[in-house]
Amino acid sequence: MIWYPYAQMKTIETPVKISSAKGVHLYTENGHDLIDSVSSWWSVIHGYNNSEINDAIKEQLDKFAHVMLGGLTHDPVQNLSDKLAVWLPGDLDYCFFSDSGSVAVEVALKMALQFNTNRGSDRNIILALEHAYHGDTFKAMEVGDDEDYHFAFGSSNEKKRGVIHIPTEIPALEDAFGKYADRMSCFIVEPLLQGAGGMRMYDVSFLERARQLCDENDVLLIFDEVATGFGRTGNRFVADIVLPDILVLGKALTGGYIGHAVTVANRRVWNGFLSDDPTHALMHGPTFMGNALACTAALKSIELFERGNYLEKIKHIEEITRRELRGFSSDKIKEIRIMGGCVCIEVNDENDLVGFQKYAYEHGVFSRPFLKYMYAMVPYIIEEWELVKILDVMKSWYNS
Ligand SMILES: Cc1ncc(COP(=O)(O)O)c(C=O)c1O
Repeated sequence: MIWYPYAQMKTIETPVKISSAKGVHLYTENGHDLIDSVSSWWSVIHGYNNSEINDAIKEQLDKFAHVMLGGLTHDPVQNLSDKLAVWLPGDLDYCFFSDSGSVAVEVALKMALQFNTNRGSDRNIILALEHAYHGDTFKAMEVGDDEDYHFAFGSSNEKKRGVIHIPTEIPALEDAFGKYADRMSCFIVEPLLQGAGGMRMYDVSFLERARQLCDENDVLLIFDEVATGFGRTGNRFVADIVLPDILVLGKALTGGYIGHAVTVANRRVWNGFLSDDPTHALMHGPTFMGNALACTAALKSIELFERGNYLEKIKHIEEITRRELRGFSSDKIKEIRIMGGCVCIEVNDENDLVGFQKYAYEHGVFSRPFLKYMYAMVPYIIEEWELVKILDVMKSWYNS
């Protein structure tokens, strides 16, 4: 029996069975052609079944699929870490690989906390954002602020001890630094776009002020760009405009082919672990870190991203989305938000989205709204007519 994600297994609707996929199209077992508006949880940026990524993986597969990084290394992981070091901004050069975004967030937090203990400081408060989502593992849940996902574990202050959540407002940020800065190890954010917490968008000035305050108070700034990285906000990375000390990437890292993630530290964080004292080492090591097939897919995905002028593609997606939604409204809608390759229609009452997934399916679109949020995060290779179709289906729901 498969235990499906985020689902009450007693009442779950039968998932749609996919038998093949190409570009932005998912083909179901019973002959439906669905345009995918979700990019398989925002990861499949080049669409499905990309022949270049397929070929790269097949070539590596003939050499080996995986060897552990404990005591061994290989070209795909070395090439990917070299590529990220030159491709990512500033001195974000030190790559710790892992198998999922949640684990990469755990690693980032571990780095920040141990960076302090290694230098004899007992800073152990973590600053985070209201409505944050950083994954489903335990520390990621603690820095997260979304009881819609993690209600089963309660929201007691006891559980969140050591984590302070603030809204994305500069006065609240300044206030938190005023109160806690000398005990704070790090500030973790999903920059500009908070995904699973409701596709909430905020201004870069908040991040600029956060950078200043972190510098002034010796606090590490962590960007969780698992969702926002690789162009989703219209920027290649938000880290290109405000530089964090630690950057977390996942999802689109491999073009959505194979679960993999990376926690990238700057030189200062890296230096904080170099020591003759063995207890200063970072004690973490996922079995599949640096998996050779995943690294190969990631290298090819980055090559496609660069070669295909993806930032222009994303700009075009944003322009079409704005054009198609201009003037659109309904009394059920609270707000329409658009940023780069993300559009979200927030409704006033989540009951107003009940049935939309089925409606979209019947109209040839795969969608997966959650709570009060109907959204699209499409693969960047989408054609204009395909995107317009998705947006038409979203709009027509309100008149159905
Ligand atoms: C911002 C952010 N961080 C972390 C994660 C967790 O990534 P994974 O599902 O690969 O563990 C997600 C997943 O949606 C995410 O959106």
